Amino acid sequence: MSNPIAITDSHTSVREFYAERAKNSDRCCATGAAAGADSNTGGDAPSTNPFYAAELLDGIPEDVAAFTLGCGDAVSLAQLQPGETVIDLGSGGGLECFIASRQVGAKGKVIGVDMTPEMLAKAWANAARLKTTNVDFRYGFLESLPVADGTADVIISNCVINLSPDKPQVFREMFRALKPGGRIAVSDVVADGELSEEAKRDMTLWGGCYSGALDMGVYAQQLREAGFVDVKIEPKGAAADHIPGLQGKLFSVAITARRSLH
Ligand SMILES: C[S@@+](CC[C@H](N)C(=O)[O-])C[C@H]1O[C@@H](n2cnc3c(N)ncnc32)[C@H](O)[C@@H]1O
Repeated sequence: MSNPIAITDSHTSVREFYAERAKNSDRCCATGAAAGADSNTGGDAPSTNPFYAAELLDGIPEDVAAFTLGCGDAVSLAQLQPGETVIDLGSGGGLECFIASRQVGAKGKVIGVDMTPEMLAKAWANAARLKTTNVDFRYGFLESLPVADGTADVIISNCVINLSPDKPQVFREMFRALKPGGRIAVSDVVADGELSEEAKRDMTLWGGCYSGALDMGVYAQQLREAGFVDVKIEPKGAAADHIPGLQGKLFSVAITARRSLH
């Protein structure tokens, strides 16, 4: 385990933002825009999921399957194998964990980590409905993961790392939590260049997965500095073309890397 972190104003405002989403089952953010899906305009919750193929959602209750705050399919990117242990960073309502739990099977395990109590409550309630036996949701922070060193074969995350105020610390924690030879599969939002200080100070834009986005090259470099090898970042689509001042600057991406065996 690592040391507890100092909770920043950024964590607090992101947590408030996602507590509201959990209570109202609202979608939001860069997430919807990246896939041409509904953005958070209020009103009824959407009933389809723009990121996951229908067969992955088969048998999952419609409201659980539709509640996505992500920006891609981090689970398929991970190419999970039966028996693997997976950590999902920022597990939200739990959908990634439920899809992953079926792929790793009874001998595998999935640990979802989230800092928002309302999201954890939603994920726990969903797990009870799905009667999962290999999924564990834990309260905790990406910057200080509530797991022992070398716990996971795979770390997945869907549109969360951009929200962290200390990404180098998140990458160090991911490295620590992986077994040697383990891998990461991340959907996230990144920037082409540095965003303005004004945008970065706007906590609504930050909470919506926009202004916390790191430049793509800096992201790759910080992963390497944390010890990762074979870092690949593949652009998937524009993420903020409806936001004045951010048009053409943000992209949803698929990121893979691994911790070497030695
Ligand atoms: C954009 S949502 C994504 C949720 C889920 N992965 C999905 O695709 O629906 C971000 C989630 O990450 C959590 N989160 C954000 N920053 C975090 C941090 N630093 N530590 C732990 N959880 C965090 C939020 O509480 C929220 O549930």
